[in-house]
Amino acid sequence: MFITLEGIEGCGKSTQAERLYRALKSRAIPVIFTREPGGTRIGEEIRKILLATSNRELSPAAEFLLMEADRAQHVAEVIKPALKKGMWVVCDRFFDATVAYQGYGRGVDLALVERLNHFSSQGIVPDKTFLLDCPVEIGLSRAMERNRIWKKEGEGRFEDEDVAFHQKVRQGYLELAKSAPGRFVVLDATRGEEELEEQIFQHIAPLVKR
Ligand code: TMP
Repeated sequence: MFITLEGIEGCGKSTQAERLYRALKSRAIPVIFTREPGGTRIGEEIRKILLATSNRELSPAAEFLLMEADRAQHVAEVIKPALKKGMWVVCDRFFDATVAYQGYGRGVDLALVERLNHFSSQGIVPDKTFLLDCPVEIGLSRAMERNRIWKKEGEGRFEDEDVAFHQKVRQGYLELAKSAPGRFVVLDATRGEEELEEQIFQHIAPLVKR
C-alpha cells in the first residue's frame, strides 16, 4: 500500500505523515516512512541543491528535472522494492507536488510534467493521497515559525516565493484532487493535529483490513 501526503508549505503534512507511520507501526504493519525530495543518499544531496536559498539562479527547467531525478532514484532504490516486498510506504510528498509546484507554480508544461512523472515513478501511483489544504497565509506563517526553530539555515528557497506563487500551488493541488477523487482525500488543515490524525486513519482503516 502506497500512501502520500501533500499540501502547501506549513500545512502540517510532515507531522501527519509521521503520525500515520507510527499508527501503522504500532499495529505491527510493515511500513517505511520516506520523503521527496530526499529519501535516498543521492536524493538528500539533490534536496540540498533544490532547497538552498543561495541557489536563486536555478532555472524552472533545472528545478523540474532535479525533482524528477530525485524521484527516479527514490522509486528505484526505496519505493518499488518496499512495495514489492508487500510493505506499506508512507511518503511525505510525491509526484503530485511536481504538478502543483513546477506545473502550476512555475508554469512548466503540464503534459510534460505528467510524462516525466510517469517515467520517474515507473508507472507507480499512490493508493491514497491526503491533501492537507489550508489558506496560503496560514501555511506560510506556520512554515516561517517552524523554520525559525527547526530548519537548517538557508533551506527556504520555496518558502521565499511570494504569496501569488503559493496560491497557484494550492490551486494546482485542488485541481488535481478534483481530477482524481478516488485517490485524493482533501482535509481541512486548519483542524487540530489529533483530529486530522483521526480523519486520516478513518480512511486508512479499511485498507488495513484488506
Ligand atoms: P518539504 O520537505 O518541507 O515539504 O520541502 C520540500 C520542498 O520541495 C517544498 O517546498 C515543495 C518542493 N517540491 C517541489 O517543488 N516539487 C516536488 O516535486 C517536490 C517533491 C517538492
